[in-house]
Amino acid sequence: MDWGMRNRIARMFPARSGHTVMLAVDHGYFMGPTRHLENAGATIGPLLPYCDAVALTRGILRTSVPPSCEVPVVLRVSGGVTVLHEDLSHEAVTTPMHEALRLNACAVALSVFVGSPHEHETLSALGALVSEGESTGMPVMAITAVGKELEKRDARYLALACRVSAELGAHLVKTYYCDGFSKVVEACPVPLVVAGGPKLDNEEAALKLAHAAIAEGASGIDMGRNIWQSPHPVAMLKALRAIVHDRATVREATELFAGEKANTPSAPAAALA
Ligand code: R5P
Repeated sequence: MDWGMRNRIARMFPARSGHTVMLAVDHGYFMGPTRHLENAGATIGPLLPYCDAVALTRGILRTSVPPSCEVPVVLRVSGGVTVLHEDLSHEAVTTPMHEALRLNACAVALSVFVGSPHEHETLSALGALVSEGESTGMPVMAITAVGKELEKRDARYLALACRVSAELGAHLVKTYYCDGFSKVVEACPVPLVVAGGPKLDNEEAALKLAHAAIAEGASGIDMGRNIWQSPHPVAMLKALRAIVHDRATVREATELFAGEKANTPSAPAAALA
């Protein structure tokens, strides 16, 4: 692995713990103006100082993130289908590698849909993107199991999807937490980061999920809705950082969240309306 690729990966996984807290704000590419992300800039701005990387599309990067931003960018480069369709797997690469380089991205991310109608196309796209990534020094993150088929997200399926992604050359894999998650980690030879999924009933439940994922071997989180759909997103992000970087217990993180609620900005009024 050449210096450029290693440098990009190192910037996303700070030496403090070797883990990462990625902020996922790429939902609009297939969900449109998701709740609390209608005004993306207002939601993202206050959170940037507390994340190790931000995952988003080129459209939101250009319109809603200031160029002075020093946070590493994980650029989503796949898309082409929306929640208006039953089959979400019909994705293609929508942003070419030269755009990722122009935008100074630290990694590119695309979804793979293992076991779905467009499995072949999305896995082939991953292979091609990895080849481009290897020749340009750009890490590729494969995103597994996005979509409506929540029942698919068991350890057997996720281990298969993550392993296939790594075998095709993905440098990082994003997946979901599940019972038996350590089996998914054991079978995947590259770092795994964990998405949060739809907003859980309360912040403690999301902190528990993050804690379990890290305890079972995840290299970090790439979480969205459970942060910015909280009425206290900055406090939530700080509590998650304590788990990911400082090995805080769920109780310690929950107490940190409760204490930070009063001292940190609430979700922007525009997002709460
Ligand atoms: C799908 O929209 C993206 O891959 C998200 O970045 C991913 O699902 C993480 O976001 P959340 O924690 O909201 O699931």
